[in-house]
Amino acid sequence: MLRMQALLCLFAIFAAASCGRLPSRAEPPNCEPGSFINSSKKVGKEKCSECPPGTYSDSVGARECKKCDLNFALAVETGMTECDLCDAGSRPVDGIFCSRKAKLTCPEKGPGSDICRQTTDSNPETFATIPAGVSVRYFLEKPENFGSLTFIRKKDCCSKDVEDIKITFPNEGYCITDAESTENSTENYLRLSYPYCSYEYVKYFDVSSWRTNRSITFRDIEFEAWLPKIIT
Ligand SMILES: *[C@@H]1O[C@H](CO)[C@@H](O)[C@H](O)[C@H]1NC(C)=O
Ligand SMILES: *[C@@H]1O[C@H](CO)[C@@H](O)[C@H](O)[C@H]1NC(C)=O
Ligand SMILES: *[C@@H]1O[C@H](CO)[C@@H](O)[C@H](O)[C@H]1NC(C)=O
Repeated sequence: MLRMQALLCLFAIFAAASCGRLPSRAEPPNCEPGSFINSSKKVGKEKCSECPPGTYSDSVGARECKKCDLNFALAVETGMTECDLCDAGSRPVDGIFCSRKAKLTCPEKGPGSDICRQTTDSNPETFATIPAGVSVRYFLEKPENFGSLTFIRKKDCCSKDVEDIKITFPNEGYCITDAESTENSTENYLRLSYPYCSYEYVKYFDVSSWRTNRSITFRDIEFEAWLPKIIT
């Protein structure tokens, strides 16, 4: 019975006749892409509402917005006309970029190789200290576009001074960093991003202390690589 009614409605729509819950006199508004006809109000008083976060509409006059994949970059935005997907294994950043943790590898031997291994093992028990005057080289498994570096430091230990950490990229000198420091009861993070420099195709970088008489101690270092967005 219901199915029959739905079928009749379908014909009725094509015939531009009135039918069931469709408005009989007033035309539904031509809602722009990114919005939908919000029919929660009375017939004839329908209005356009922006698609809620996590949904989108790519057509005019949509009755409802379509759902995006769970892992989309513009999660917090309303009124989307398309989903903005991050690649598998990556995460959305500021609704603009996708980024993913890149794999770091260490030199076989040399003064920094043990420190490098201890700070790339993701083990909360191992900390390493880069002594003043020593530079530790981290290689990327494959060249990546630089997004940010995160230092995971020891709580209540050692230098908290952002300016102590010096990161050098080959042939690029260095850049002034923006640092975001996050402390909670279990971990102490320092995320360094380089908003005014863009390093593409990074193969390795060096970490040392700016200060000739200070060492820096941390647990892990994580390299995040920017990825191109995938638009669906
Ligand atoms: C639809 O309209 C109602 C009434 O104005 C409003 O409360 C509701 O938030 C709207 N829905 C969306 C998804 O904007
Ligand atoms: C604190 O650190 C833990 C361990 O990494 C993490 O799981 C948790 O989400 C953090 N809490 C806050 C409020 O950032
Ligand atoms: C480290 O050197 C700076 C000057 O370069 C000096 O002001 C500071 O007192 C020194 N700190 C220690 C612990 O020696």
